[in-house]
Amino acid sequence: MAQSPTAQVPTTEIDDDPDGRARFDELIAADSRIEPRDWMPAAYRKNLVRQISQHAHSEIIGMQPEANWISRAPSLKRKAILMAKVQDEAGHGLYLYSAAQTLGTPRDEMFQALVDGRARYSSIFNYPTLGWADMGAIGWLVDGAAICNQVPLCRASYGPYARAMVRICKEESFHQRQGFEILLELMHGTPAQRAMAQDAVDRWYAPSLMMFGPPDEESVNSQQSMAWNIKRFSNDDLRQRFVDMLVPQAEALGVTLPDPDLRFDEATGHWAYGELDWHEFQEVLGGRGPCNTQRLAHRRAAFEDGAWVREAAAAYARKQADAAEQAA
Ligand code: 3HC
Repeated sequence: MAQSPTAQVPTTEIDDDPDGRARFDELIAADSRIEPRDWMPAAYRKNLVRQISQHAHSEIIGMQPEANWISRAPSLKRKAILMAKVQDEAGHGLYLYSAAQTLGTPRDEMFQALVDGRARYSSIFNYPTLGWADMGAIGWLVDGAAICNQVPLCRASYGPYARAMVRICKEESFHQRQGFEILLELMHGTPAQRAMAQDAVDRWYAPSLMMFGPPDEESVNSQQSMAWNIKRFSNDDLRQRFVDMLVPQAEALGVTLPDPDLRFDEATGHWAYGELDWHEFQEVLGGRGPCNTQRLAHRRAAFEDGAWVREAAAAYARKQADAAEQAA
């Protein structure tokens, strides 16, 4: 539940700038936006950098499982769509790094934390993509979960983050639909194609539910993030919303959601689902998922390979600045 935004803020920060603090509290209480120029508590800033940079890293690492299938897409049309989607993810990463930079954290610092393995990114991208149907399952389930989680973030209290999310969510809905459509086509295909689609759904369903984070009682950041109007719903509330959304879509597709405990609960009006494997989730977060090592190694190699581009861009910027200085 949301609580008073002042409740958990250390007193030292409240004392830093009483006027700024009062204005910040007013803006949060009025459900208005905080902009980069506004005074904000250090803990608010830190929490945002944490969430936004993790989100940016997820978008960038998230390019890998799907890029893996660009060269093996079954048709030119599918290849073009998948390339566009992977490029969109890169764009999302860039909007998000830019939003995080407005909080004063340099992009280099965030990149370095990722390649050093100090930063978190979404658990979901540490699972392998074993077949073409995985592109459908990722679009339907992973991007579907992303939309469920991210649409409320369009109302996050930090302006640059909320504005980035509006654009990202538009693109995510295209991603979700293309995934649904891949699965639909496979489900109308041969028995082998239907089996391939079901197998992909079997493997991606539970990890996609875990994308929403740990159960509420173990979510260390939720309470404060909700008090600050960054998060609008708890992890479990969003997970429930997602399951309720998936059930009729699975029916339309003709796939079975791999959960024997899934049943409609008349009392709550929601689909009750079985216990998730939180031990597996913790293993993935601890760097011991199926693809953690591979994903980071690939990102590190890409970062190192790109060093000459960064150096060339910096040299060009220096040259331009020198020329401008001489002309002045
Ligand atoms: N994967 C990895 N780490 C996770 C996680 C997940 N699925 N869920 C939670 N965690 C981590 C948190 O980062 C936190 O660690 P930290 O304190 O060291 O930062 C810890 O587990 C406890 O979780 P909390 O519930 O306290 O964390 P949050 O309140 O931040 O909630 C969140 C987690 C729901 C993921 C929230 O951060 C959020 O909404 N983030 C923005 C959206 C986002 O990052 N999505 C990632 C997927 S990107 C994507 O979907 C791309 C698309 O193209 C498919």
